[in-house]
Amino acid sequence: MEERVVSAEEQGYEDSLDQQVRPQQIAQYIGQEKVKQNLNVFMEAAKMREESLDHVLLYGPPGLGKTTLSAIIASEMGVNMRTTSGPAIERPGDLAAILSGLEPGDVLFIDEIHRLNRMVEEVLYPAMEDFCLDIVIGKGPTARSVRLDLPPFTLVGATTRAGMLSAPLRDRFGVMARLEYYTESELTQIVRRTAEIFQADIDGEAAVEIARRSRGTPRIANRLLRRVRDFAQVQGDGTISLAIAAHSLEQLQVDELGLDHIDHKLLLGMIEKFRGGPVGLETIAATIGEEAETIEDVYEPYLLQIGFLQRTPRGRIVSPICYKHFHLEEPK
Ligand code: ADE
Repeated sequence: MEERVVSAEEQGYEDSLDQQVRPQQIAQYIGQEKVKQNLNVFMEAAKMREESLDHVLLYGPPGLGKTTLSAIIASEMGVNMRTTSGPAIERPGDLAAILSGLEPGDVLFIDEIHRLNRMVEEVLYPAMEDFCLDIVIGKGPTARSVRLDLPPFTLVGATTRAGMLSAPLRDRFGVMARLEYYTESELTQIVRRTAEIFQADIDGEAAVEIARRSRGTPRIANRLLRRVRDFAQVQGDGTISLAIAAHSLEQLQVDELGLDHIDHKLLLGMIEKFRGGPVGLETIAATIGEEAETIEDVYEPYLLQIGFLQRTPRGRIVSPICYKHFHLEEPK
């Protein structure tokens, strides 16, 4: 697999910490109100008809709770969730093995589903549509195809890029839900909830401060909370006060708007080296030494959302409000 923003080990560790704070029922899940309301109806209807829930595609920027929602769907439907990812399924046989191991009604969660290869996708089509596997036995002129029935199941696909899914795959999802960035008030509730699970004492103002600087993203909010809690424990009396939160976030190089040193490097790089653009994604990537894909999936969506970056046909440009944020003059 290609290199990611964090090492696999680090990701695994963060994931296991995430696990402890993830809501397990839909009633505990804060935010994404429209998605929750609709999913509740579809789950209720499927249960009334004693059917498996239709396939669900969850898309949107990383860290907004796609995996969590999938686990909640499984738990609300009273079934197990099997988890895998697009790049992990290398051959059609890998997918066939996973599918034939499912129990009736199970949720199969495929993360980064836009990275499935074509041959694997072909196995997925009849599986999603008719709950069956077409297997070719033998080779050459005597080869024949047999159909194996599968138990009914729900595929939950997650992607940061719905646009990169092939049309035939996209069309096979009966439910498509786009996850949005969280509001400050939703993130504040999430920070308070997580602090309670950690049995950490946190002032209301400190929770708001962490929420404000979390780029609309619960995963970031919970990560910042853990770091701020460390500062409170070592440099304070254990209570997470506003002063401790502000000091810790400064130490962590997270600015007033939640932008971190990579966001800064990206924006200041564009300003200093390219007069604010237009500049192509690949050029930005090479300049700051990050993968283009990481910039596009992880950093850029929030900068576009807050209007710091704009996309034009000739490349990305830095907007006037971004210059203001850095107290810089726009070039004439
Ligand atoms: N922890 C992470 N995401 C959450 C969410 N959406 N609701 C509650 N707790 C969370």
